[in-house]
Amino acid sequence: MQYRDLGRTGVQVSELCLGCMMFGGRTEPQVSMDIIDRAIDAGINFFDTANVYNRGRSEEVVGQALKRNGKRNRIVIATKVHGRMIEDDPNGRGNHRRHIIQQCEDSLRRLQTDWIDVYQLHRPDSGLAIDETLRALDDLIRHGKVRYIGTSTFAAWQLMEALWAAKELGLNRFVTEQPPYHLLDRRIERELVPFAQTYGVALIPWSPLAGGFLTGKYRPGEAPPEGTRLAGRDDPRTRALLAERSYGVLETLQTMAAEKGVTASQLALAWVAQQPAITAPIIGPRTMEQLEDNLGAIEVVITDEDRRRFDEVAPPGRAIAPYYEADFGPHRYRWI
Ligand SMILES: NC(=O)c1ccc[n+]([C@@H]2O[C@H](COP(=O)([O-])OP(=O)(O)OC[C@H]3O[C@@H](n4cnc5c(N)ncnc54)[C@H](OP(=O)(O)O)[C@@H]3O)[C@@H](O)[C@H]2O)c1
Repeated sequence: MQYRDLGRTGVQVSELCLGCMMFGGRTEPQVSMDIIDRAIDAGINFFDTANVYNRGRSEEVVGQALKRNGKRNRIVIATKVHGRMIEDDPNGRGNHRRHIIQQCEDSLRRLQTDWIDVYQLHRPDSGLAIDETLRALDDLIRHGKVRYIGTSTFAAWQLMEALWAAKELGLNRFVTEQPPYHLLDRRIERELVPFAQTYGVALIPWSPLAGGFLTGKYRPGEAPPEGTRLAGRDDPRTRALLAERSYGVLETLQTMAAEKGVTASQLALAWVAQQPAITAPIIGPRTMEQLEDNLGAIEVVITDEDRRRFDEVAPPGRAIAPYYEADFGPHRYRWI
């Protein structure tokens, strides 16, 4: 396992980040903890979770596992705030100070730790100005509850504005951004990637396998197999993934993977990991077998010729299957 700079922080994180979204949900706690132990043995020191994953159960399982193996001090834990955690409460979600501080306390309790390494906004919140949010996050850093702050699924303009506000106001700035990114959706290459390269923000992409599509487990004209993530789903993302255009990309991926003697998922993960400005893709194993497969990605070398072949079927900056539409503004209030 190799380690990379987490943006401009100086912190070293493994080239794969362990996504914990399945833990305590579709993956039962015992298996989740075994997956965590195996990932640490393989050299992974970077975990991603969120308060909303399985209504807090994911954080609880991570906390329990790190208590059990005594490795908390070696792990860089990233978690998130924004999504609804309190029903029937107009203040039970969002990026305002009240919610953020309450949720941070709850996450610390579930994770059984005194600090969060990277506290991320799960989404932008166009209902308030960024200085409100930044001041709350800055207070958490100053109180020692959080080491660094990051974002997820922000537009480049929103992040740029946040860096500007932080500088003007003398507050801690965001050091990471977590966007959706894989062969079927390369839209971040237009603005977010050059932004991140210019300003030293670490990109840690989510869904590097397009939720499992790029493993090759779904076949054209057939219903998704029982027990898989896409089974029984009929939403715009699933329809785009299971369209003919996506299978065209998958076919190239599978051909190239066979030539290299690796799995399609390993090649797809390696492609994300070795794209410009990427710090570490976040893998999302549901089972131990999937983790073992995903770990193999670190051995795969992507050549210029490989990139050229991928660019032909999945053009740079474009989406073959648009994976996510975020709230990219405008915002109700300005910070200035
Ligand atoms: N910031 C955000 O908004 C956001 C959003 C989503 C995720 N995330 C983070 O990113 C992480 C990864 O996201 P993701 O789970 O969507 O990533 P992904 O790598 O695109 O998909 C992972 C899924 O693919 C399937 N899979 C993986 N390896 C496989 C293999 N070898 N063989 C067969 N199937 C395999 C499994 O699904 P099945 O077996 O169930 O089919 C697995 O859960 C999450 O854990 C979370 O930490 C963040």
